[in-house]
Amino acid sequence: MCGIVGYVGQHAVGPILLKGLKRLEYRGYDSSGVALFDEGGRSETFKAAGKIAAIEPMVLAKDQTLFHGGIGHTRWATHGAPNTTNAHPHRVKDLVLVHNGIIENYREIQKLVYARGYKPVSETDSELFAFLVMFEMEEHKIDLIEGVRRAFPKIHGSSSVVIMSEKQPGLIVAVRNGSPLVAGWNKEFGAIVASDAQPILDHTNKVYYLENGDMIVCQKSGIQFFDAYSGKPVERKEVTIDWSADRLDKNGYAHYMLKEIHEQPRTILDTLHAYFEDQTHRPFEFAKNAGIDQLSAAQRLSIIACGTSWHAGLLGRYWFERYTHLPVDTDLASEFRYRNSHFTPGQVVMGISQSGETADTLAVLQDVNKNKVPTLAITNVKGSTISREAKSIFYTYAGPEIGVASTKAFTAQMLMLVLLAGRLGRDLAVNDSQGKKMIEIDRLYRELFEVPHYLSMALETGGSTANAVKKAAQDTLHSKAFFFIGRGYSFPLALEGALKLKEIAYVHAEGYAAGELKHGPIAMLEPGVTVIVIAPKDIWYDKTVSNLQEVKARGAKIVAVGHADDKTLASMADHFIPLPLQSKKPDGQSTLDESLTPFLISPILQLLSYEIALSKGTDIDQPRNLAKSVTVE
Ligand code: M6R
Repeated sequence: MCGIVGYVGQHAVGPILLKGLKRLEYRGYDSSGVALFDEGGRSETFKAAGKIAAIEPMVLAKDQTLFHGGIGHTRWATHGAPNTTNAHPHRVKDLVLVHNGIIENYREIQKLVYARGYKPVSETDSELFAFLVMFEMEEHKIDLIEGVRRAFPKIHGSSSVVIMSEKQPGLIVAVRNGSPLVAGWNKEFGAIVASDAQPILDHTNKVYYLENGDMIVCQKSGIQFFDAYSGKPVERKEVTIDWSADRLDKNGYAHYMLKEIHEQPRTILDTLHAYFEDQTHRPFEFAKNAGIDQLSAAQRLSIIACGTSWHAGLLGRYWFERYTHLPVDTDLASEFRYRNSHFTPGQVVMGISQSGETADTLAVLQDVNKNKVPTLAITNVKGSTISREAKSIFYTYAGPEIGVASTKAFTAQMLMLVLLAGRLGRDLAVNDSQGKKMIEIDRLYRELFEVPHYLSMALETGGSTANAVKKAAQDTLHSKAFFFIGRGYSFPLALEGALKLKEIAYVHAEGYAAGELKHGPIAMLEPGVTVIVIAPKDIWYDKTVSNLQEVKARGAKIVAVGHADDKTLASMADHFIPLPLQSKKPDGQSTLDESLTPFLISPILQLLSYEIALSKGTDIDQPRNLAKSVTVE
């Protein structure tokens, strides 16, 4: 979605805005622009379709000592094509603005603008807001701050706007209703406002999250906070972000996605350490998290999410069902939202969202809160809108995820779900004195600490797993279609594997429960099609191998993922990708419980998609048409 950066202060404005916009590139965009303001109030605007690199030379060619403020924008087109005219900032007389969101009543405003004898330059809804502000200012003889305040309630839908005026050049006014805005200030630097904390972290790690309905006035001397509707001052708490700016860089990797895939052993440990009381592998207490009490009291758990987070939720259902007696359903937020869902006593609704900003997931939590049903959320972003909407929150510790395709955040969500399922299951086992169940869950926790070790082996460049992934990618990249199949835990992984491949390699890929193959998709199997069979040695193994045989009989190419010692799978597949794991220890015990193999399989599938996309030469970190956080419906 669109990205916004605004800055007033004593440092060179152009480079700060450009760097800030680059930090927001991950959100996805198709044009960009920057406006620079000098002390005397003159402004210059630089805009272009395509990447930020297209405006960078124009901005940097300017004498930066002239400017002391400005705003920048990356646009993800909604109203009007991605071209230079529609790129932000938009200018109406002395006003220059950038906008993120959708103005739902834009037709009405457009009519008003034409009726008053003006003709907007762009096809965007955004430009229209500048006219509204201008009308207010002219009609009531008021300044920019008051003009924005009077105009803002007149637009419908979810929007955030950052606006400057040539008549008050030392001032940025920003207002939020929906799309997030974050601000930061320090004496030496000045004031900055952006769509998320990442452009701010290069300058300060102390930030303020704007609430819906907040308006701020940024000057180099500080930031003032107001209620946009009443105009009364409000207080906002300063939040310290614990992500350092260097975690926002590629650190030598060719792509953020590759870096983030390789970060997973560490992020799993970070999340484990955040939730276990110590490193003795004893069951953790989640000491002060009220969400645990909510879950313990739950009679039914409804998980809602979108995209990859929904896949994590589907996996969550398997873990909750294995370790607890809690009935669980997992639903797409966009569907749940418009169904006639009937809440039952004791129901708890859990939203999962990496960004904490996804519009559909947020809307469900808002509706559920109105119905007085307890809400929980799992998110990776502190201070995000969802983290503030849910009654209780479990943070994952994946760190900033920049690649549009979610990787390490997905793994961290899975981890949070298995931890919660185990925590709840252990409570039940204690109460029912089920010794066996308790031992099972204690073992689960112990083994979770072994996952980073196995995962490091799987991802090791030149290792047998990574090599097999590379070979399979090279041999299958021209396939006309891919099917990912699996049963049990491997079914959501199949969905996720296919989504990842679609997103970054732009090839036709479908994920299926292996048992569903013969109910339709088998008709498509023939030479030239590749089927990725996810078949670790688990309770579903024999059934999945039967499905593999059906695939083989139709001439499709098979890439199988399974335990390293699985000779059957290795002999049947065209490519066998070994997990760095034997199915049994010498004493006959399995090396890692079957419920934990998703933590190894998912990163392997991510790597497979990455390798295919790399060979195809696609834009891996910012795939076409996609946005990192989907803040509109
Ligand atoms: O931020 P969220 O987890 O709520 O995002 C949900 C989806 O938009 C997201 O998972 C999307 O599917 C990713 N591009 C997947 O890689």
